[in-house]
Amino acid sequence: MEIDTKKLEEIIGKYGKCKSTVIPILQDIQEEYNWLPEEVFEIVAQELGIPLMDVYGVATFYRTFSLKPRGKHIITVCLGTACHVRGGQRITETISRELGINPGETTEDLKFTLETVNCLGCCAIGPIVVVDGEYYGGMTSQKVASLLKKTRGGKRE
Ligand code: FES
Repeated sequence: MEIDTKKLEEIIGKYGKCKSTVIPILQDIQEEYNWLPEEVFEIVAQELGIPLMDVYGVATFYRTFSLKPRGKHIITVCLGTACHVRGGQRITETISRELGINPGETTEDLKFTLETVNCLGCCAIGPIVVVDGEYYGGMTSQKVASLLKKTRGGKRE
């Protein structure tokens, strides 16, 4: 994968070069790429003057970091009990069919990643689908198909 080293240096320069800045640096890099490509670890380690294993250790310790490619749009379906009984599973299947991927996977064009979660803490408005951090309650298969279409076309409100 092509890494914009200038952009990385910019991010690293923002935080200063010491071991304690690894987490915010990796967070910013993930924001840039939506995941952490392997190539960035060596650059971060070199720039901070710390062992590669230390950078890799942080990236693998925190669940928030993804070492697998993630799409531009992250679709999360709640499959907690309340959302599940209201059709969460059917909604997940509709998304899988529409995008051609299973939960935990990313489309080849890196546009979408589908994830599931167990309860987002707002069961009353379930079933819930989250698209790029925005919550959509009372979802149905039909609604989610049109939400995907809007997201794909960049017309989501
Ligand atoms: S089960 Fe979906 S928000 Fe609680």
